[in-house]
Amino acid sequence: MTKLAIFASGNGSNFEVLARAINQLDFPATLEFLFCDKREAYALKRAENLGVTSFAFELKEFPDKASYEAAIIKLLERHEIDLILLAGYMKIVGGTLLSRYDGKIINIHPALLPDFKGAHAINDAFAAGVNQTGVTVHYVDSGVDTGQIIAQEVVAIKTNDTLETLEAKIHQVEHQLYPKVVRNLIGGEKSETCVN
Ligand code: GRF
Repeated sequence: MTKLAIFASGNGSNFEVLARAINQLDFPATLEFLFCDKREAYALKRAENLGVTSFAFELKEFPDKASYEAAIIKLLERHEIDLILLAGYMKIVGGTLLSRYDGKIINIHPALLPDFKGAHAINDAFAAGVNQTGVTVHYVDSGVDTGQIIAQEVVAIKTNDTLETLEAKIHQVEHQLYPKVVRNLIGGEKSETCVN
């Protein structure tokens, strides 16, 4: 059985939908823990409510990023984690973690990569006045939002959309897409890049 860990930094809505999906009896994986790099993250509260084990520590508590990531690796190894799901984890994955788990870290990004990389993707797409954006699930590599794309889904931006309605639409798509893609990946099914 594939063992999963989820990393989040803040709200944790994607963590929650993933945790609920993974906890279904027919899901071919187990969720071992949530890791947060913010001790105040609301995601930790969600984990407590769901009965999911969680760990939290912050980069600033370590002398450097390498030792911070070494502590994360210890956790991952102790729990024999096979696949890491980033869900609103707001740190760039550094070389220490990446070299140990290369090809085993995936992320969800609220835009149609390679467009609108970075931490403000929804705002950036809205401000750009494009008529569509979307959601991408991708592998993590050493760049920022540059890893191999696993799946994408388009979200239309209508003339009456506000930033708030767009955000809501994007999150709704994220919550459908991420659990589905993870299930397909683990089940060995080929995930389709569906731009529709
Ligand atoms: C999501 O939009 C995700 O795509 C991005 O960060 C956001 C996290 O939201 N990487 P939440 O914490 O899961 O609610």
